Amino acid sequence: MSDRIHTLSGYLYEYQKSVTQPEEFWARIADSFHWRKRWSKVLKWNFDEPDIQWFVDAKLNITENIFERHLFTIGDRPAIIWEANDPNEEGRTLTYRELFHEVNRFANALKSKGIGKGDKVIIYMPMVPESAIAMLACARIGAIHSVVFAGFSSSALADRVIDCEAKAILTSDGNFRGSKKIAVKAVVDEALEKSSVETVIVYERTKQDVTMKEGRDHWWHDVIAEEADLCPAEEMDSEDMLFILYTSGSTGKPKGVVHTTGGYMVYSQYSFDNVFQYSEGDVYWCTADVGWITGHSYIVYGPLLAGATTLMFEGVPTFPDAGRFWAVVEKHKVNVFYTAPTAIRALQAYGTEPINNYDLSSLKVLGSVGEPINEEAWHWYHTHIGKNKCPIVDTWWQTETGGIMVSPIAGITPTKPAYATLPLPGVQLCIVDPEGKELTGNSVEGNLCIKFPWPSMIRTTYGDHERCKQTYFSTYKGMYFTGDGVKRDHDGYYRILGRVDDVINVSGHRLGTAEVENAINEHPKVIESAVVGYPHEVKGQGIYAYVICDLTNRTEANLVNEIKEMVSQIIGPIAKPDKIQLVSGLPKTRSGKIMRRILRKVAEGSFDSMGDTSTLLDPDVVTKIIEGKK
Ligand code: PRX
Repeated sequence: MSDRIHTLSGYLYEYQKSVTQPEEFWARIADSFHWRKRWSKVLKWNFDEPDIQWFVDAKLNITENIFERHLFTIGDRPAIIWEANDPNEEGRTLTYRELFHEVNRFANALKSKGIGKGDKVIIYMPMVPESAIAMLACARIGAIHSVVFAGFSSSALADRVIDCEAKAILTSDGNFRGSKKIAVKAVVDEALEKSSVETVIVYERTKQDVTMKEGRDHWWHDVIAEEADLCPAEEMDSEDMLFILYTSGSTGKPKGVVHTTGGYMVYSQYSFDNVFQYSEGDVYWCTADVGWITGHSYIVYGPLLAGATTLMFEGVPTFPDAGRFWAVVEKHKVNVFYTAPTAIRALQAYGTEPINNYDLSSLKVLGSVGEPINEEAWHWYHTHIGKNKCPIVDTWWQTETGGIMVSPIAGITPTKPAYATLPLPGVQLCIVDPEGKELTGNSVEGNLCIKFPWPSMIRTTYGDHERCKQTYFSTYKGMYFTGDGVKRDHDGYYRILGRVDDVINVSGHRLGTAEVENAINEHPKVIESAVVGYPHEVKGQGIYAYVICDLTNRTEANLVNEIKEMVSQIIGPIAKPDKIQLVSGLPKTRSGKIMRRILRKVAEGSFDSMGDTSTLLDPDVVTKIIEGKK
């Protein structure tokens, strides 16, 4: 990409330009894409509504920008390299041309099942190339995909199916994860018991027994068998929905974050190109799952729009042993490696032995995403994986931002351990105090906001625009509020301090405390619960639940296990509390609000300085909780 930043002064110049002339800045970047019709205006916006439109009136199809835009030049280049869970199973490589035809074939299959523009399709699949094919096939015909992480439970899946009014589900028979074989179709069946989803397409992966419902369920290989491998791309408006992705907030059920076509396309490639400084021929590997935004933007859309070779890994970092990541790096000569701090910390615990067996000399750039990376993990990653020669891009962003917002530009702007450093050109950060007053200058700490639109920002929360307005645009007037705390140090570098709302980040996965509490409260013996995060060595944050329950006919140990199981069933294993403390009361103010600040302190094990407890209804509760914890 000719627009790419190559030097530090280039970064500074571009940054300045993006602030003083944002429309010109983005128009220049958008010009390298293929638009069937150009925009009449680059940007229309109003953060109060919010109403944000990028590349107004432009027409395009994002898959034409992946395929037709460069098929003549890069058709034979590997698009996806797939590495199976089992190292003895042969992998697969799809060139851009092959991927193009598979996407077209599956797009035709979707059409022949009556799925078209505007229909919602849930993708609940393992990490196989078909999940990317499914996403792109939807985009090809203008259907809106909503990928649900295949580790979510049937009831979490059912909630999403209902909320987005899904017409079809794309899934698999099962899923391989490390030494386990997990039933996937059976979870879908359970989720669909009370739904009117018309079509289920099942990709055969594990060959385990499944029940297929006549008329509704079809095998992937059957539906594509007779289809042509060319399918004309649907013409989409720049602001037509591309996908919905559910994420947790501090209240209520997960919300469907809506991303639209034109802006998301421009920003995902722009950020991929610049942050990772991918060069032609490189192998790029992001270890995320397609069920999260990282998988959307930096396994599928960003790299494929950029014509890169993206590696997709089905397995887990510790199977068959803790050297698996490094075995894959050596095998495929990976040049850019992008993972999560939780994975780094988990592998750090195995020492350097599992690394020493492998040749990691192909690595040029390392990335980190999903949660703050602590200095120790940063140094370990830099020294033992990057051999002190690979810049680490610590990328801060969110499901709602669609793409990386704050990050070093690999090899060009400076890095600093535990700092996401500087905003990308086009991103106007703002630190505010609790009253919303902007804190200018360096050496300040407060809440992180963004004061000007960027192309891949959230447009709405599906089916509930008011919720989008309240959550992101009402806390501080005229600004998008991220929910994160941040510090700008004396050099002007940004360090993300973590969530300031009731969202916890467990192994880089976002969970709302209310969501976990609701699941715990489903247990018939539970009277009330309060959930907080606490520092966890590997996961970053662990889940600590304080639960009031009726102990008749139960032992404490039984009840604790039953509650964990309950949460696992309602949300999924990722939400299972790490610690459950049975308590007789919760610290509440006179107005009935639970004082989580106190619960967080106790969970951390810091029992002094509880702060002001005078507003508590019953200050004794705190003493009892501390005793219980001790
Ligand atoms: O708290 C921040 C944290 O993850 C949140 C976003 O979570 P999610 O929407 O699931 O997206 C994760 C992948 C982009 C943020 O509000 N977070 C993400 N990246 C970082 C981070 N915290 C610190 N440093 C990061 N690099």
